[in-house]
Formats: sequence, structure tokens, C-alpha cells
Amino acid sequence: MVATTLRQVSTADLAKVQIADRAIHLVPETAPSKATFEHIAVIGLGYVGLPLAVRLAEQFENVAGFDISQQRVDEINFGYDATKEIGSKELRQSGLTASRNQTSIKDASFYIVTVPTPINDARQPELSPLRSACQMVGQRLTKGDIVVFESTVYPGVTEDVCAPILEQVSGLKAGEDFGLGYSPERINPGDKVNTLQNVTKIVSGDTPETLERVRAVYDTVVEAGLHAAPNIKVAEAAKVLENTQRDINIALMNEMSLICDKVGISTNEVIEAAATKWNFLPFTPGLVGGHCIGVDPYYLATLAEKVDLHPQVILAGRRTNDGMVRHVADAALRLMIDRGASVRDLRVGVCGVTFKEDVPDLRNSKTLELVELLRGFGIKPLIHDPHCDPDEAADLGYVLCKTEEFKTLDVLILATPHSKYVNDPAFLDRLKPDGVLMDVKGVYRTSEKAKGRQYWAL
Ligand SMILES: NC(=O)c1ccc[n+]([C@@H]2O[C@H](COP(=O)([O-])OP(=O)(O)OC[C@H]3O[C@@H](n4cnc5c(N)ncnc54)[C@H](O)[C@@H]3O)[C@@H](O)[C@H]2O)c1
Repeated sequence: MVATTLRQVSTADLAKVQIADRAIHLVPETAPSKATFEHIAVIGLGYVGLPLAVRLAEQFENVAGFDISQQRVDEINFGYDATKEIGSKELRQSGLTASRNQTSIKDASFYIVTVPTPINDARQPELSPLRSACQMVGQRLTKGDIVVFESTVYPGVTEDVCAPILEQVSGLKAGEDFGLGYSPERINPGDKVNTLQNVTKIVSGDTPETLERVRAVYDTVVEAGLHAAPNIKVAEAAKVLENTQRDINIALMNEMSLICDKVGISTNEVIEAAATKWNFLPFTPGLVGGHCIGVDPYYLATLAEKVDLHPQVILAGRRTNDGMVRHVADAALRLMIDRGASVRDLRVGVCGVTFKEDVPDLRNSKTLELVELLRGFGIKPLIHDPHCDPDEAADLGYVLCKTEEFKTLDVLILATPHSKYVNDPAFLDRLKPDGVLMDVKGVYRTSEKAKGRQYWAL
């Protein structure tokens, strides 16, 4: 028999129980009740889908998250978001549960599809994740349901690619038996200011009734307000235009930077001077990676070609931006050769591997392309990133350097200037005193810390 000692219950313990008891009774009266007018299923729980599902789960009683990745599902249910968009506490408190079991979404009346829309090797839209999500939703669809797409597409994909799959699989008719909507996502990963709640959201629907239901759902989570586009194609086109415009504006600055490099002036100083005019748009040069700005223009270009147009500006922007990584690699090689020693003997550090600042996302990383180009010159760069998952990098064939070993560098290439680098007062001490700082985005351009150093920026 196990000997147990009964602890005397103290007055303090009793008080705690009474407080807890009161709290239990108070909760149902004070906690705002959640909406029940739609049962929501979010399909694809990535950078876009998870924050959306969490916000909706805070407002609605019934929100199911679905993803085909078992690892992603397990992590979410454990309270861990590998994309770092949602904190652990927030994720757990939201009450959202994720599943890769299709029965988890069987009661949904309102489906939101947020699956990836990448490009293939031929730089053509790769719509297979979207098609497969439509197949799955089609099997569950019942009369009166609504399917809203958030994935970035070219105008026409929702009605001409997705709707026929949904109709064929479900045996129902879009616009009559079920509603179609499109609401592009504008989140900016890593940005805690321009969030889902704080940015106006475009909504659209195939009928006025669908639009009203789409509005009602998004209205609960978007504080900045909704913009109702007149139809689905306009909403689809608006999203690709936003990202294409950004790509082209950056491309212009990148081209300017190639010119400035030839004539030996600073692009950033030129931009700073030009920005004193009221209508100058102060974009800056940089490497364009990731899965939005560098991808979405190809969606628009594909549509243009489908309708017998040959987009010049859109694709020129892509060509310029894609070529910038070679320009950075060539500049690095020139600077290394100038040091006199064999480039193979130099300690070269490349830091900031993820495609943009303060996110762990490695997709279409231009820094990794840069590493490849440097390796092609016989250089073995040390690679460092505080945000990137070392296992994910290893899967791609890159071993991340430990922070304590990322030092005594002859050349430091700051490709993606994460805040952790920029806010570290000792960051430039990683360079030898006579080392070269290649500050791709020019964040140290006016810094006292970079004064006296051999310096290069786009
Ligand atoms: N990330 C951004 O900054 C951003 C911003 C605006 C718009 N978008 C667009 O939103 C869409 C999603 O992008 P993301 O960055 O969230 O992608 P992501 O890769 O982070 O997430 C997509 C998720 O969908 C899952 N998935 C893939 N196929 C699926 C399927 N058939 N059924 C269910 N789940 C599936 C994946 O496992 C993954 O977890 C894309 O069209 C993208 O262009 C992205």
C-alpha cells in the first residue's frame, strides 16, 4: 500500500478555490459569445491561412483548419507556428484545431482556400495545389455553401479553373447552388503593423447575396474595412497588379543601380536627392526573392499571353530583378580580386539567407543563389541566418555557420538585413578591420560604424 499524507487544506487554499469557482461561474456571463452564422473551413494553413484561421477562430464558434502537411498540422495543434506569424499563447488561446482529415471540414458552410500558387520551371503558373484543393472541397460541397479563394491568381482562375472543378465534383452549379468569392490576402510576413486586421481587404462575390455573406465574415476580423470589388476578376487582377507594380518599381531602381555602379556614384544618394520631389516614389534596389513579388508578375504575363498580348514591361521587370544576384556576385568577385590574395583563401561570410528581413521563409532565396554563384568562383562562403531553420537549410544542401564562428571575415555580404544584425552594435566586428562590407540594401550607408570601411551597396 502506498503511504499518502493528506495535506491540511488551508484557509488560503480555500480562498483560491472560491476565487476559481467564482471565475468559472463568471466566465459564461462575461465572455463575448462567438458568431455561429457560418461554419468556416480554412484550407491551407501557411503564412496566409494560419493567421486568418486564428483570427476567425477568435470570432466564430466553428472554424476548422485543414492542411495536407501532417507536420504543419501537428505543430499547429501543439501551439507552434514555424512561420513565426502567430505566437504560441495566441495560437493555443484561439481554440483553432488543425487536421489533415477531410472529415474535419464536413460541416463547413464557408470554405476559404489559401493554398500556394507557385510557378513551375518554365515560369508558368502551377495551379495543381489549387486544383487539388478544389477537388477536395468539391467532395464536401452542399447547397448554400460558399467557397472563397485567397490564393494569388491571374484574373479568371476562380471562375474558369476552380469553379468547373467544384461543379464537376459536387454536381452543383456555381452562382445557383453555391457561391464563389475571391478576397486577396495582403499580409506582409514579419510585419506586425500591416496585419490582416489593419489593412483594407478586397472582397468579391459572384452574386450580391454571396458578396454580402463574404462581407459579413471578413467584417468580423478586418478592422480597417472592406473594399467590395465589382466582380471576382477585378479582385483577382487587383492583387497581381499590386505585386507587379512593386516588382517593376524595384526593377527600375535596380537598373538605376547598374548605371550608378558604372559611373561610380551611389544609387542611394541619387534616390535620396530625387525623393525631395513631391511625386517621386522612393523605392530602393534589392534582391527580389520569395513567392509573391518575384512570382505574381508571371501570373499576369501568362494571362496577357493567353489573350494574345506580349507583355513587355512586366517581363522586363522580372528579367532585371532576376539578374541582380549575378551583379552582386560579380561585384563581390571584383572586390575580392582587388584584395590581392587568392579568392579561395578569403573568409567570406554571407548573412541573411531568408528571402526577406525577419522571416524564416527560404522560398526563392536570392541569397542562396548568390552562395551558389560564389561557390562557382571557388569561394566557400560561410552562411549565417538567425531566423532560418538549420534543418530546412540542410535539406537544401546548406550548412549554417554558428554565430561564434561567423567572424574574422575578409568580406561580409549582408544580403538580408535582419533587425538582429542591424540592431547588434557589434555586428560589423565580425569583419577584419580591413575587411570589405557588402551592404546589399545599403542599411549601413550613413552609419558611423561603417565609416572608414571598404564599403559597397547596390
Ligand atoms: N506569404 C505571403 O506573404 C502572401 C501574401 C499574400 C498572398 N499570398 C498568397 O497566398 C497563397 C498562400 O501563400 P502562403 O505563403 O500562405 O503559402 P504557404 O506555403 O506558407 O502555405 C500553404 C499551405 O497550404 C498547404 N497546402 C498545399 N496544398 C494544399 C492542399 N491541396 N490542400 C490543403 N492544404 C494545402 C501547405 O501544406 C501549406 O501549409 C499563395 O497564393 C500566395 O501567393 C501569400
